[in-house]
Amino acid sequence: MGTTPTASTEASRLARQGNDRALREAPDLPAMFDRYREHLENALAAAVPPLEGHAVNALLRYHLGWPDRTGTPAATPASQGKALRPTLCMFACHALQGDPARAAPAAAALELIHNFSLVHDDIQDQGMERRHQPTVWAVWGTEQALVAGDAMQSLGDLSALNVGGSAPPDTTIRVSQLLTQSYLEMIEGQCRDLEFERREVIASDEYLDMIALKTGALIRSSMVIGATIATHDIETLEGVARFGRAIGRLFQIRDDYLGIWGDEAITGKSTDSDIVQRKKSYPIVCAFQHAEGANRDELLRLYAQEELDEDDVNHVLNILDDLGADRQTDELTEATAEEGRAALALLELPPWAAEDAKNLIDFMAYRLF
Ligand code: IPE
Ligand code: IPE
Ligand code: MG
Ligand code: MG
Repeated sequence: MGTTPTASTEASRLARQGNDRALREAPDLPAMFDRYREHLENALAAAVPPLEGHAVNALLRYHLGWPDRTGTPAATPASQGKALRPTLCMFACHALQGDPARAAPAAAALELIHNFSLVHDDIQDQGMERRHQPTVWAVWGTEQALVAGDAMQSLGDLSALNVGGSAPPDTTIRVSQLLTQSYLEMIEGQCRDLEFERREVIASDEYLDMIALKTGALIRSSMVIGATIATHDIETLEGVARFGRAIGRLFQIRDDYLGIWGDEAITGKSTDSDIVQRKKSYPIVCAFQHAEGANRDELLRLYAQEELDEDDVNHVLNILDDLGADRQTDELTEATAEEGRAALALLELPPWAAEDAKNLIDFMAYRLF
């Protein structure tokens, strides 16, 4: 929407606040994302059957950014997403001296489960745009988008069972168990996220528990699954889980920031829908905790409605500005990135992998997409 700050106005706003984030270059995807891309593409192609005889696959393939809605190959690689979770999975395996190719079917499974969650999330959040294209439900309707998400989930489950290869059967069972457990947590997180829309004041702890489930669980399990394919050492796996937990939280807190102050042209997602939907993303949690007097009355009045219109959204944005909710969100982002760095310091990784993980944290904390 017209009132939403763009990336350049955001930089000048941060500079006015003396925020040193404004002086940073927005990070590009770290090198590790390119390193494992080919393995992922092959595993995904094997996991998603061709079109013939599978009507639902047209919807899946569209969401994955392969063809556009008319079946023509997609114009922009941005419509394929960042592939964060599969990259983390293969990276964790590689960093612990495993062969990243062995983790590829599990990596594809994680990407498919993530995409299942996005197809359903866009219905739940009424999101009209994702990855720079209209969402599946916006093109085909809610009913079809539900089955597309269901099919994506099943393909993810099947891909996880393909870890096999040279891995012993108990590793495959463990991977499948870790994946299913973590996406059950993700579903619980989605349930709480939706429930929070109907409540006003959400305590920081409730918010942190919710994001640990809806986003953190799959990010943590991406790392743990990759690590499990490389090692059975319990202490190492616990250390990887600790790191995964911190970066999962970090990723969602930054996503909450971008959901309000991000640039739609860069994120590929709309920046008013979180407020329209009364989503209790971190800036709003902060606002409800700190607002007093007229700001508090206004927030309570606005959020007592079922949905917010454009004027309401502008009021909320002004209140967030007044309360410095952007700065507070940045502070939590920084503190969470520090937790990630502390968890990383406890892991014994080869120098190249420690450097990659450090760059990953910076990307997560400062990303614009
Ligand atoms: C978006 O995840 C949903 C969240 C859990 C925050 P990503 O930002 O990883 O989405 P894609 O896959 O790159 O589109
Ligand atoms: C992220 O949801 C979590 C899942 C999809 C499970 P969000 O609603 O916060 O993510 P975006 O901003 O729509 O990508
Ligand atoms: Mg959501
Ligand atoms: Mg959403």
